[in-house]
Amino acid sequence: MAPVSLPHDAKAGPTKSEVRAVLCSKLDLAPTDHFAEVGSCTGAVTIEAARRAGRVTALERKPERLETTRKNLAENGVTEGVDLREAEAPEGLPEDADALFLGGSRNYEAVLDHAVATGVDRVVMNVSRLEVAGAATEAFRERDLLDEVVQFQVSHGYELAGATSFDSQNPVYMLVGGVDETATDGGGTVTLHGVGLGPGDADLVTVRGKRVLDEADVVYTPGRLSRTVATAHVPEARIGDLDFPMTRDEDELRRAWREAAAEIAPVARESTAAFVTLGDPNVYSTFGHLRRTLDAFHPDVSVETVPGVSAVTAFTTALGVEITAGSSLALHEGARGASPTGPDRMVLFKVTDVPATHEGLVAAGYDVVYGRRLYMEQGETVVTDDPEVLADRDYYTLAYAEKADLDDDPATAQFADAADDASEPTVAAMERAEGEACGDESPEVAR
Ligand SMILES: C[S@@+](CC[C@H](N)C(=O)[O-])C[C@H]1O[C@@H](n2cnc3c(N)ncnc32)[C@H](O)[C@@H]1O
Repeated sequence: MAPVSLPHDAKAGPTKSEVRAVLCSKLDLAPTDHFAEVGSCTGAVTIEAARRAGRVTALERKPERLETTRKNLAENGVTEGVDLREAEAPEGLPEDADALFLGGSRNYEAVLDHAVATGVDRVVMNVSRLEVAGAATEAFRERDLLDEVVQFQVSHGYELAGATSFDSQNPVYMLVGGVDETATDGGGTVTLHGVGLGPGDADLVTVRGKRVLDEADVVYTPGRLSRTVATAHVPEARIGDLDFPMTRDEDELRRAWREAAAEIAPVARESTAAFVTLGDPNVYSTFGHLRRTLDAFHPDVSVETVPGVSAVTAFTTALGVEITAGSSLALHEGARGASPTGPDRMVLFKVTDVPATHEGLVAAGYDVVYGRRLYMEQGETVVTDDPEVLADRDYYTLAYAEKADLDDDPATAQFADAADDASEPTVAAMERAEGEACGDESPEVAR
């Protein structure tokens, strides 16, 4: 193959020829391949790729550089098979690439996400800065993309006083990997078991949940309380450690869930893994984050869920409430003193400022009962309608609010009235009973 010639300058160093040689061997392009490139710049890699792959889609965000790519392609006789796009990846990336090269680090996490989502077989990223190399390696790893990290440095000899000395180029970090299709569609799917532990008492775990916990090699817990319930069924040695930051920062949360999924997925592949949550895994739970992260980055890991007794239903028994057939019940959050209103009946989770929530609910015409640490072995269980009793903050507090003027008694509610009528002693009946107790004849007999 003729050497690539780059007469047109993009005011940015091209990927050097020796680096391109290693890159081409890692990309292993074939005429059946669709190759995608992020950052075509001078077009050095684009030309190499166009000589090997069936199709090339090259993205460049700077129009003047895209023009340089176009001119250099023409200089090298590449006239077809290359789709040049002025775009900033992941915008403009094709959905069917077989191989992808990231020549720059801009938006690289989103580009890698796209590679995972579209199942790109071979992904290579070149990095020159040490810090970016570390972060990008981590990003490859979190997405299960990393096969190898290659670092090399090329030096060119030159003659100095009759001997050969060397000029060295910057070192290159080449991250090499891709989506493992055998794992995603080879039929070898693996399962992560999500298990609802119930509201807190260890014996409110379902029989099925208990069986899954018994069989799991590693049981992951998202917090202290779920860990306590889990350890009533599973020895500490089988509990897996995950680190979740206490933050509302969405980027940090996404990173934490990626790390958690990257920790759990290989364990699920090699053995039996379970992830537990308090209550039910699909009600206001961390489990949804994990499921979505696995779907996106480890699609070979499917999820099977064992439902748990949720506080949404357990509260009824603990608070002595009946949600009668035909009535409606809404679930809301009541965090930081919030008092959502509207529905006839509501369960409020996360009632962290009971007095403030109470004030709002009562003003809106609700009767309210509170439950704290229901069915929990840790801490004191409290059921009360007095907000001052629960003035201190405790996350495991819920409220049941019911409109004060509801009039929807079920048919059998009448029995209570009848029983009340029947059992209410009239003055005559009381006198008769007293008389009989003293040996008098009953008035009926006297008549
Ligand atoms: C993030 S939600 C988790 C719900 C759980 N997945 C379920 O299905 O029960 C946590 C909130 O549920 C309520 N909660 C859960 N378990 C509770 C319990 N045992 N006692 C009182 N409230 C509870 C609290 O309001 C708490 O702030």
